[in-house]
Amino acid sequence: MFEHDVLVIGAGLAGLRAALAANQAGADAAVITKVHPVRSHSNAAQGGINAALTDRGDTWEEHAFETVKGSDYLGDQDAIEVLCSEAGRAIIEQEHYGVIFSRDENGRLGTRNFGGQQRARTFFVADFTGQAMLHVMYEQLVKSGTRVYEEWFVTSLIVEDGRCQGVIAMDMMSGQLHVIKSGAVILAAGGLGRLYEPTTNALICTGDGMALAYRAGAPLMDMEMVQYHPTTLKSNGVLITEAARGEGAHLINANGERFMEKYAPNMMELASRDVVSRAEQTEINEGRGVDGCVLLDLRHLGREKIHERLQYINEVSMDFLGIDLAEQPVPVRPGMHYQMGGVKTDVDGATPLPGLYAAGECACVSVHGGNRLGANSLLDTIVFGRRSGEAAAIYSRETARADIPESRLSVDEDHIKELLGRQDNGDTPAAIRLELGTTMNDYVAVFRTVEGMQTALEKIRGLNERYGTVPVQDKGKVFNTNLIATLELGFMLECAETIVVSALERKESRGAHFMTEFPQRDDEKWLKHIMVSQSADGPKLDYVPVTITQWEPQVRSY
Ligand code: FUM
Repeated sequence: MFEHDVLVIGAGLAGLRAALAANQAGADAAVITKVHPVRSHSNAAQGGINAALTDRGDTWEEHAFETVKGSDYLGDQDAIEVLCSEAGRAIIEQEHYGVIFSRDENGRLGTRNFGGQQRARTFFVADFTGQAMLHVMYEQLVKSGTRVYEEWFVTSLIVEDGRCQGVIAMDMMSGQLHVIKSGAVILAAGGLGRLYEPTTNALICTGDGMALAYRAGAPLMDMEMVQYHPTTLKSNGVLITEAARGEGAHLINANGERFMEKYAPNMMELASRDVVSRAEQTEINEGRGVDGCVLLDLRHLGREKIHERLQYINEVSMDFLGIDLAEQPVPVRPGMHYQMGGVKTDVDGATPLPGLYAAGECACVSVHGGNRLGANSLLDTIVFGRRSGEAAAIYSRETARADIPESRLSVDEDHIKELLGRQDNGDTPAAIRLELGTTMNDYVAVFRTVEGMQTALEKIRGLNERYGTVPVQDKGKVFNTNLIATLELGFMLECAETIVVSALERKESRGAHFMTEFPQRDDEKWLKHIMVSQSADGPKLDYVPVTITQWEPQVRSY
């Protein structure tokens, strides 16, 4: 049996930062990850990371207010204050660790504009900021000597005496299951984008962290809040960074009009993501789109600027559509990008289940509320990654550990045996996964209706029934990716149900959740979070008030 003080599940930015913090706090920390750390999805973050640095006259309060407004007043303001007031320190720390941020003409850290914010406060490394940060954090982790269980897959959390005390995990190389005991566990397993097809998310974003917590009895919160990014590539949903608009790109419709004038006359293309995505979808639905898309026009930025600051998206556009951004507008459309909800935590990452912490996209602090501002997610990973690592190290030091009965391992072993023993019935996990993705994209997207979501719920429950007998064709032990995909699919179906049940419950429109039957925000009834917990009768809903510190809800316009 393996044992650590703090075990972090996930090796993206939140996970690496958490492990480093736990290690620096004196804990024996370890990381467990189903892919090599630098293949984690943080790698895909393009545009940048927000922070208000006072050397340029910015204030964290201004950043916090814009985050609150961006969240459509659903974000908890105490948590947003922590996020924004710690941002400056977090950026400087990243620079000292070795991230080579792009500079301005005076050699200072450069900034660019991002949506929903009046000031340029997004620090960046061209258009591959996440990749630059992830590699640096991985270097720091290697330097710290922290153990990494690489290509291990967590099948369940161990809860003994009402506390999370470790995990059951499969070493994918051998197919063998192990108990890893731990004084505290931090979930940093990323998002659930692959519940939708298409999405900007990597294939590995299957909601593992949220589902593991949910099954172990920890509640999820704000699950109905799913962000559609306004600019994803026509052919396959690959992200075209918001930084393009931050650098000055225009959105135009089939008539060549900058249509954002109608929807957000002040901020135009740099309104918040929910507003821009709805505007685009309206243009498309009303017949002013171009083959189901709108056009993103960067031509006036010039080749030199595109080459210097937006090189990656130019390559993506060339590779997939043969479009040179300096010559031609690129077709884009709203696409699933981010889950604002997740495992409910406090500002130190603690979930209501003692011993279990969460940080990053799988967590819900809630700093993003109904709509996340672009470039606040990288910030979220390093601020709350660090805080959860420190808090988990203290908890682990101060809390006695229980014995884990051997029988605990056999529960997961029996489940896997049952999966591998199933007879072929013509169905496949891949077919179910694809149906799930198209269902979510058809019915739980930018515009939602009660009828559509009821249809989605029925379909998800039907897929779940099929999941109960779906065969795993590969019966082998070594790197059985067919088995892993089947286990992931179980997580995905569970998360999908929590999204739809929560979305059906929220009878108003707020942030990313727009219901055609209830088009207005309703603070009187719905200025509250929806929490969802697993019960024998299916998802059980509860409500938690939103924390307001200094910004009373106002009408939101851009
Ligand atoms: O558009 C982007 O570069 C995405 C950034 C983010 O989601 O924070």
